[in-house]
Amino acid sequence: MKVGIIGAGTMGGGIAQVFAQSGWDVCLCDISEQLAEKGKARIAKGFEKRIAKGKMDAAEAEAVLARIVTGLKDICGDCDLIVEAALENMEVKRSTFCELESICRPDCVFATNTSSLSITEIGHGLSHPVVGMHFFNPAPVMKLVEVIAGMETPAETVSKITQIAESLGKTPVQVNESAGFVVNRILIPMINEGVAVYAEGVASAADIDTAMKLGANHPMGPLELGDLVGLDVVLAIMEVLHHETGDDKYRPHPLLRKMVRAGLLGRKTGKGFFDYTK
Ligand code: 3HC
Repeated sequence: MKVGIIGAGTMGGGIAQVFAQSGWDVCLCDISEQLAEKGKARIAKGFEKRIAKGKMDAAEAEAVLARIVTGLKDICGDCDLIVEAALENMEVKRSTFCELESICRPDCVFATNTSSLSITEIGHGLSHPVVGMHFFNPAPVMKLVEVIAGMETPAETVSKITQIAESLGKTPVQVNESAGFVVNRILIPMINEGVAVYAEGVASAADIDTAMKLGANHPMGPLELGDLVGLDVVLAIMEVLHHETGDDKYRPHPLLRKMVRAGLLGRKTGKGFFDYTK
């Protein structure tokens, strides 16, 4: 089986790794060949660390990497499945799938890893039905996949993606389309609230995170998690929740907006609530 992953950033790269480790051939694509290669290089770097720790065999890493080819999306012509993990922007996602319609086989399944956008809107007007296949960061570690049906998604597409998620060793949950689905509807407002607690000077960033780790048994505090997800992604999801519901309880905190404007996006830019440059 062959999958085309569109977008070789943090999520796209992680998803490519998951499929390749389960024996799929993977086309890892981005808007330039260099970006796609960079995505594959990040996977290889992760493998090097695991090999150094004795947690992975060098031959296995080589075999997995050999299953991943990189390029532009026109290499996806013979894919059985597309998982789009491009920018969290409706226009980008719609135009990506429009282009893929003329590249992919008619029986290729179109899935999107959108974290909050409408599956119905992404897929409307396409001849390939679109389904949500939402992985969590870091994709190789996190067990959950949300499988989201839009208004026009056939039931057989939902069950096909559910089966594929299981075959990847993930636990799928079926979700009806709604802003933020299940996890991000609950998790992202919690991160936004963490930003508010920090902005009000209630506690230091480190103490807010320690409080939630030890007081609520979360594996990461909300600010560290925001830095992992990317503060731009957190802001984009809050904006979707706010816009779709019209409910001010989803208002993005002004500090979150300010940090995104300053390029303090978290791990991916080296700084967010914490400093990753050292
Ligand atoms: N990529 C691949 N593997 C990774 C990784 C990464 N980025 N980060 C950690 N790992 C692996 C490690 O190699 C290790 O594997 P091993 O057990 O085989 O050695 C394992 O994960 C555990 O890592 P560590 O021991 O280094 O660290 P922790 O035990 O602290 O776990 C964590 C790290 C799994 C990231 C944990 O802190 C965690 O679960 N954090 C919460 C993550 C979360 O909530 N994610 C969801 C975000 S929301 C989202 O993604 C939705 C989107 O739409 C925005």
